[in-house]
Amino acid sequence: MTSTVAASGIDTTASPARALVCRACQARYPLAAQHACYECFGPLEVDYDSAALARVTREQIEAGPANLWRYAALLPAGQDPATRVTLDPGLTPLVAAPHLAAELGITAPLWVKDDSANPTQSFKDRVVSVALTAARALGFTRFACASTGNLANSVAAHAARVGAPSVVFIPGDLEQGKVVTTAVYGGDLVAIDGSYDDVNRLCGELVETDEFEDTAFVNVNVRPYYAEGSKTLGYEVAEQLGWRIPAQVVIPMASGELLTKIDKAFAELVEIGLAEAPAGGWRVFGAQSAGCNPIATALHAGSDEIVPVKPTGIAKSLNIGDPAAGLYALEAVRRSGGWMDYADDDEIRAGIRLLARTTGVFAETAGGVTVAVLRKLVEAGKLDPAAETVVFNTGEGLKTIDAVAGQVGPTHRIRPSLRAARDAGLLG
Ligand SMILES: Cc1ncc(COP(=O)(O)O)c(C=O)c1O
Ligand SMILES: [Zn+2]
Repeated sequence: MTSTVAASGIDTTASPARALVCRACQARYPLAAQHACYECFGPLEVDYDSAALARVTREQIEAGPANLWRYAALLPAGQDPATRVTLDPGLTPLVAAPHLAAELGITAPLWVKDDSANPTQSFKDRVVSVALTAARALGFTRFACASTGNLANSVAAHAARVGAPSVVFIPGDLEQGKVVTTAVYGGDLVAIDGSYDDVNRLCGELVETDEFEDTAFVNVNVRPYYAEGSKTLGYEVAEQLGWRIPAQVVIPMASGELLTKIDKAFAELVEIGLAEAPAGGWRVFGAQSAGCNPIATALHAGSDEIVPVKPTGIAKSLNIGDPAAGLYALEAVRRSGGWMDYADDDEIRAGIRLLARTTGVFAETAGGVTVAVLRKLVEAGKLDPAAETVVFNTGEGLKTIDAVAGQVGPTHRIRPSLRAARDAGLLG
């Protein structure tokens, strides 16, 4: 689990990171390429010097670049711009959504954090920039991942930007829009006859081989650093709201990692005095598809056991049947007083169209899941329509265009003449 690659290491004179700590038993390890605890096999996450975090100011962040590196002082790596492996993602639009709010009966401000505006059109550019910057500091020279699609795009593009080799592993049945937008960057792209969970298992075996000793799998051996990149979505929302944390957030879940890290980002900002929490705290809501709902099912059953599923359905980017951070997502949602729900394929399509029609944002299937679940949460009385809410659109609709291609098209088809336009009712 620890790489034997000769590593220059994370520069702890610049980075606030101090150790890796087990999320389950709190055992501590050096800042290396290790993702599981030797004591209990629990997942590791980055632990910071709280005094270093507390020195960070709003002014320092606001004077930084117009991308996620403005938060470098709160991240494990990349404080020196010369060390970054990055497409400079982040600072994506926080879109006011009054028309969507009105359709759903939400009376408080509703916002869409539109992370499809990142360089490879999903939030994965955030996690990849942080993971690969840490990976290079740790001495890795080749970049890899197990992906449900968006991560594949991002790893291949980041590798191309710095001229490094990449090898990306995907399930064989991904959308063409995800395959082409990975393959175009060059690099090896390995389609596996199996599910994402099969792909992930294979990557866990490959990473242990001598031949892959020089290879950082962003979501396997450098996963603790990767996961931290998702915090920047939380930081940005708070900064864009004028250093306030919204009362409610609705977040799509695959592994569940993104949800836990947005929650962690809010907690950090409050702890170091950079942002104000709403009275009564913030509530975290999770969204899955009906074809892959192991985390929401455990919540609904009041269980602490996440039973893996075999995923089905059109929300392929969220199709992780055995979610690595599922227990921690459950914990965050329960602790905050939130909830989870899931949406079937028809509801997902309707969610994509509703978001597009009311906000001008065209989401991929994961965004359709999130908007469909937002609707259900309001209808079920789980989400307070009178409390400020942010929903996260994490990916771009053009990559999963088949989801709605059969449902929308020209509203009229006419010959190029005024008379035809009149006959079609276009002149009133
Ligand atoms: C578009 C999109 N949204 C959300 C997620 C969920 O991320 P996580 O695995 O951190 O829960 C993914 C994961 O692949 C994704 O591709
Ligand atoms: Zn442990």
